[in-house]
Amino acid sequence: MKNNLLFIFCLILIIACNKEERTELPTPVAPETPKLDTIPPSGTSRIPATPQRIGDKDKGWEYLITGDYVNSGPPLALVQTFFGNSPNLLNRTGDNADLPYRFNAVSAFNGVKVAAPNCLTCHAEELNGELIVGLGNNSFNYSQNQSGLNNLIKSSISSFYGADSPELAAYGPFDRATSVISDQTVTAVRGVNPAGKLAVVLDAHRNPSDLTWSEEARYNIPQEVVPSDVPAWWLTKKKNALYYAGIGQGDHAKTIMAASILTLQDADQATEIDANFPDVLAYLKSIEPPKYPEAMDASKIIRGEEIFNINCAKCHGTYGDQETYPNLLVSVDQLQTDPLLAISNYGLGQFLDSYNSSWFGQGENAAQLVATNGYVAPPLDGIWATAPYLHNGSVPTLADLLNSEQRPTYWERSFDSNDFDFEKIGWKYEAKPTGGNANIYDTTISGYGNGGHFYGDQLTDLERSDLIEYLKSI
Ligand code: HEC
Ligand code: HEC
Repeated sequence: MKNNLLFIFCLILIIACNKEERTELPTPVAPETPKLDTIPPSGTSRIPATPQRIGDKDKGWEYLITGDYVNSGPPLALVQTFFGNSPNLLNRTGDNADLPYRFNAVSAFNGVKVAAPNCLTCHAEELNGELIVGLGNNSFNYSQNQSGLNNLIKSSISSFYGADSPELAAYGPFDRATSVISDQTVTAVRGVNPAGKLAVVLDAHRNPSDLTWSEEARYNIPQEVVPSDVPAWWLTKKKNALYYAGIGQGDHAKTIMAASILTLQDADQATEIDANFPDVLAYLKSIEPPKYPEAMDASKIIRGEEIFNINCAKCHGTYGDQETYPNLLVSVDQLQTDPLLAISNYGLGQFLDSYNSSWFGQGENAAQLVATNGYVAPPLDGIWATAPYLHNGSVPTLADLLNSEQRPTYWERSFDSNDFDFEKIGWKYEAKPTGGNANIYDTTISGYGNGGHFYGDQLTDLERSDLIEYLKSI
């Protein structure tokens, strides 16, 4: 819409200019130019745009919350027994109506109705008591090894339906994946997500040519489980490359359908699923960030915008009527945030080569994983809602992010989405003398560091406070 208006405006200008005789114009009075520094700093590079498939956002939403892109899991009836009567937060109908929002009721390969986890398992979260689709889950506890739970589910299905039952067979693909994943994706603390590691483990267990399951891992997988804070979906529309390190390049729809690899049969099924993902991507691109719910101070916002445009816009772009976004990759040398996510799994040659030579990286609309040496400066739309901050979720509030000395080394929060700190913008927390408990974020662990991104440090307290007011408004 905005683009159309801009186009029409330009057209009118061109026509008007062509008609007019060239006359000497009076020397214009220099307008008060808003200060804006857009020169990319050293240690940064721009990620160029690549062509993307077009999709239908309404179809994408329907597919996301009812589709069978994951098509194995426990029997629907069993899940309904335990979780039936869940509130219908997504206004779904039929079998989905009383399922928790994070499951889709789908048919497995053998026709058995199962409850399969959907993307909202990681990409929806409560904030101030309300579920927000597209907000990254920041409360799930991956610090507990899930293998015990998986075994319990499997033996329950076996004893309830029988060891030769179609129900147990329908659980098979889910079971074989979770049994190799569980041990390898345990995080050190609650609230962070091991998806980067998950991708490597699942890739290592797939044959690249046809994506069939390989019981043995095809290459050595790094030991460490690097944590990520799940990014908000409403940022996708501005990004030329996906994932924190900007490694997800080429066709974005094909990149994000990779979550199906959990239970996929083979490349033929992948091709069927992939056909729906331009629609899913169109839906993700249609999501708008939630608005800041409290009153804001207009004069602070004006001052804050000026501070932002001088200090931050060169990497994060500009907001409001004239939006810009440079898609800058910032090297870890320049940025100094924890480097492990960029260099561990995402820098693992065997993983990248394997993915790029597989169904994902080949053929029409190919996706590519490209190793980088840093992190993308993300768009900051709706940033007030997406605490904790940095790629590993190591900083609990915006106030702490912008004043690095103030960042807590060990911090604990309640994981109650109502404990939002409207002063510092982020999670209310208590600084602790030490870690050692999964509810306490421990920034001394490799991959969990809270250093770097010192760009707010040289500002005064008042400037930071104005800047935060502005950040609430974008
Ligand atoms: C197990 C949790 C999990 C599931 C399930 C999951 N994701 Fe993600 N997703 C993540 C994490 C974590 C990241 C960030 C990884 C990174 O950048 O290193 C991510 C990144 C993304 C991004 C890139 C966002 C950006 O700003 O770069 C998109 C788009 C996305 N996921 C879409 C999906 C879709 C669509 C599905 C379902 C088909 C899905 N995800 C399933 C955890 C998950
Ligand atoms: C040199 C480029 C650069 C400059 C200048 C810069 N940033 Fe950043 N910013 C980044 C990068 C890159 C990241 C991602 C770092 C990471 O996750 O490790 C980031 C992350 C952030 C985040 C956290 C995003 C999230 O979702 O967790 C916020 C908030 C932020 N910057 C605000 C600012 C503000 C405000 C300023 C100005 C005072 C600023 N930045 C200046 C590059 C920059």
